[in-house]
Amino acid sequence: MTKVSFEQIKGFVFDLDGVITDTSLYHTKAWHQLADKLDVTWSKELEDGLKGISRMDSLEMILKAGHKENDYTYDEKVALATEKNTNYVNEISKMTPENILPGIKAFLDDLRANGYQIALASASKNGPTVLKNLELTDYFPKIVDPASLSKGKPDPEIYTKGAELLGLAPETCIGVEDAAAGIEAINAANEVSVGIGDATLLKDADVRFDNTAEMTLANIKKAMA
Ligand code: G6P
Ligand code: MG
Repeated sequence: MTKVSFEQIKGFVFDLDGVITDTSLYHTKAWHQLADKLDVTWSKELEDGLKGISRMDSLEMILKAGHKENDYTYDEKVALATEKNTNYVNEISKMTPENILPGIKAFLDDLRANGYQIALASASKNGPTVLKNLELTDYFPKIVDPASLSKGKPDPEIYTKGAELLGLAPETCIGVEDAAAGIEAINAANEVSVGIGDATLLKDADVRFDNTAEMTLANIKKAMA
């Protein structure tokens, strides 16, 4: 049983990368490429840890993993993050609605049909472009601006702002995430957390599904009972 009942839920606050679409693969590819260039050893742990983390914080995490956090000036770090973003933007420019993860479109339609409010809580400054390429912009009238945040995930700020944008109390919102840092943020915001992916990684999620196709209102209701 979750902290609130399914019937109390009025809104959904979504992460984007790895939930709506598989852009997490593109982020990973672009960071891995940069890590190789910087001679930082790539690992699954680093890959998982980067999910949900802002661009500059991701770069810091990579440099730290290679004990190189003091090797670059701020301007050099900005240039490295920009290089990663250029590669990432090139990948997302090729995206189409076919890149929407299984079941997501049907789930969003179901949410709309049942009167749930929907917001986006992605740390990505490329979020609106990705939504546009997926032709999903209309589903997300409320988007938290990541540039307005003072702290990134796992801080609850982005999810708290998501609920605020919807005019809803946090406990009446469900947050959906594929990253451990994101689940932590949702829980700290006092929303109900739905995790998509690995059980060990997402062990703190209130509700968890292996993949997006399993995320339906009926399954969420069952899991919250
Ligand atoms: C999301 C992704 C992260 C990414 C971050 C910033 O949270 O999960 O992997 O680093 O957004 O994305 P951006 O497109 O602004 O570099
Ligand atoms: Mg994500």
